[in-house]
Amino acid sequence: MKKVITDLRTFQYFYPYTVAVVGAQVKDRANFMSCAWHTALSFDPPLFGILVAKKRRTYDLISEAKEFTVNFLVQEDVALSAQMGRISGHDRDKVKEFQVELSPAVHIRTPVLDAAYAAFECRLRDIYSCGDHELFVGEVLAVQVREECFDRQGVLDPRQVKPLLYLGSDFYITVDPDTLEHKLP
Ligand SMILES: Cc1cc2nc3c(=O)[nH]c(=O)nc-3n(C[C@H](O)[C@H](O)[C@H](O)COP(=O)(O)O)c2cc1C
Repeated sequence: MKKVITDLRTFQYFYPYTVAVVGAQVKDRANFMSCAWHTALSFDPPLFGILVAKKRRTYDLISEAKEFTVNFLVQEDVALSAQMGRISGHDRDKVKEFQVELSPAVHIRTPVLDAAYAAFECRLRDIYSCGDHELFVGEVLAVQVREECFDRQGVLDPRQVKPLLYLGSDFYITVDPDTLEHKLP
């Protein structure tokens, strides 16, 4: 028997999701925000979506810059996710305060995180309203990856990299490489 829940204020039964840290820059100040609500949307053209609440600093910055980066973290960088995800750029300069190391993107002005094992450079293409979040659709112009973390087809190698997964609230976990299966029907 399953319990039926109709009070959906803590509607987070879909986790774990990978943590992406979304960056955007206006003038010379970059800001980053942890983002668990994200999804690939299309291979051709390559489109990637992120869901951002209107009150985030990131919402204003992406709306103005019309571009963003999406940065995937390893488990060891869990503190970075907590910092970028529990403090707002409206109040503090997170990059400066936490000495976040950045490297340049190739196609856009917004930098990527040095710590990321994979990072997307996206140009804003569309914005859709989804309740209390907005779906920013980015066209992926380039992907920067640590080569050793993926095989030739771009499949993540869990023996090389432990992706940071989010469980909701302030809980995180990663994958167990011993459970890896390559299965065909
Ligand atoms: C792991 C994690 C995932 C999060 N995912 C999202 C998300 O998908 N969308 C969102 O709007 N906020 C999300 N948040 C909340 C923002 O990251 C948080 O409010 C952040 O302080 C916003 O920063 P900003 O105001 O500088 O943009 C998440 C927080 C954490 C810790």
